[in-house]
Amino acid sequence: MTMIELVGLGKNFGALWAVKDLDLAVSAGELFGFLGPNGAGKTTTIRLMVGLLRPTTGTAAIAGHDIQQDALAAKRSLGYLAQTPLLYDRLTGREFLRFIGGLYDLPDGESDARARHLLALMELDDKADDLIESYSGGMRHKIGLCAALLHRPPVLILDEPLVGMDPASSRRIKDALLGLRDGGTTIFLSTHMLEIAEQLCDRVAILDHGQLIAVGTVAELRAALTSQAGTSLESLFLQLTQTETQD
Ligand SMILES: Nc1ncnc2c1ncn2[C@@H]1O[C@H](COP(=O)(O)OP(=O)(O)OP(=O)(O)O)[C@@H](O)[C@H]1O
Ligand SMILES: [Mg+2]
Repeated sequence: MTMIELVGLGKNFGALWAVKDLDLAVSAGELFGFLGPNGAGKTTTIRLMVGLLRPTTGTAAIAGHDIQQDALAAKRSLGYLAQTPLLYDRLTGREFLRFIGGLYDLPDGESDARARHLLALMELDDKADDLIESYSGGMRHKIGLCAALLHRPPVLILDEPLVGMDPASSRRIKDALLGLRDGGTTIFLSTHMLEIAEQLCDRVAILDHGQLIAVGTVAELRAALTSQAGTSLESLFLQLTQTETQD
């Protein structure tokens, strides 16, 4: 079953096509990596997918619901972590999650129980009753991730979820994402960290100048590009995006 479907998706800002004629389908239970250099159009694509931007061309559908035509059903089906999460600094972490639970019509008891579980998972327990304004950058990302997971959406869309995470947190979040994937959640994440794509992702897409230049498993991309066994994703990525290599 296709859980994320982009058809002819495009967005221009004046003369610049940040995303151009993108076709992509992600199946249920896939952990999909979205790679590309700075300015490739990853965040723009994600913002189109979650309904924060209106496409210039084409459509995006989540769990079969068009994000523009059937926005509420599509948004109920997805959890989203922005590259820079929008939080409420004057709420505590726990209050913020209760507020988010309310947006998704979760009963308070259920919302609080899930929040406790997620706060423990992200090791935010001892910060849960502090104002978000006192959180570090990594903690802000973690509370944003808790908020994205709270309503247990079938589709998770995460823009650079592991940026700024210390190694232990990164490990916990990776394990949590793999656990969710194994439980059937579809996960779409953008990352600069190529080793994350290699470790975690069932398939990856590489975006450059707003266009897809490769889609497949890391092994398939490797096979298509080179006969050298064991070529790192990094060198493939650099080949594909034609960045000068220094080694
Ligand atoms: N609101 C906007 N107005 C004008 N140009 C924009 C806007 N948003 C993005 N762009 C441009 O669109 C292109 C793609 O940006 P985008 O943020 O999608 O890239 P990205 O792949 O997420 O990059 P990064 O890896 O740095 O996060 C860039 O050239 C950017 O300057
Ligand atoms: Mg981005």
